[in-house]
Amino acid sequence: MLAIIGGSGLTQLAILEIERRQVVRTPFGEPSGPLIFGRIGGRQVVFLARHGYGHTIPPHLVNYRANLWALKHGAGALHVISVASVGGIRSDLGPGTLVVPDQIIDYTWGRAATFFEGGDSGVTHIDFTQPYDPTIRHELLEAARSGGHAIVDGAVYAATQGPRLETAAEIDRLEGDGAHVVGMTGMPEAALAREQDLPYGALCVVANWAAGRQSSARAISFSQVEETLQAAMGRVRDVLGRFCEDGC
Ligand code: HPA
Repeated sequence: MLAIIGGSGLTQLAILEIERRQVVRTPFGEPSGPLIFGRIGGRQVVFLARHGYGHTIPPHLVNYRANLWALKHGAGALHVISVASVGGIRSDLGPGTLVVPDQIIDYTWGRAATFFEGGDSGVTHIDFTQPYDPTIRHELLEAARSGGHAIVDGAVYAATQGPRLETAAEIDRLEGDGAHVVGMTGMPEAALAREQDLPYGALCVVANWAAGRQSSARAISFSQVEETLQAAMGRVRDVLGRFCEDGC
């Protein structure tokens, strides 16, 4: 069973032949919505819209623990692919680019970021040197290439708190820190997946130039973001379809 967590622009997965929906209760509260079970290319998939099916949950209020717990223990997922939109910081990562990041810098705060709260749940320090699963990364890249879609192998993902976008100076700081793309949902999701022993990879779509860069020099245009995401999601679906046919 493969889990796909869909982000902005991917609240539905048209290629999924839906078989059933299931509401899962967790010790950590409610996930973002019911889990949607189905098949893609004959393969069993469970889908969850990170921001809810009506896109009503902002990044800092997503119940990441409930989502990961539900996917692992409620659905029996063995792998997780996150689809997420990001802002492009590096000059070759413009709107519409597909990226499979390989590193994370976490700037989020105040989110429930671990399953291990001490007491009965214990104290556990996961290894997080390589935050993304190398096999999933490789197979996402292969799936894109087999479909003839350009895709960037490796980027440092900066996870910001949101929900506001960044200032231009904040983006300069992120770049100075070594970040290449910026998004609001990559953490604690990736770490919680690791805590659950769930191999996790991300397929990112650059929705806009990050604040202060290129066409976002003065402001970020939301109509442009919508258009870019709509245009890119066809490629995302194709990559996911190919991953399901050939991937892990
Ligand atoms: N910043 C943070 N998160 C984002 C952006 C951005 O510019 N674009 C899409 N998600």
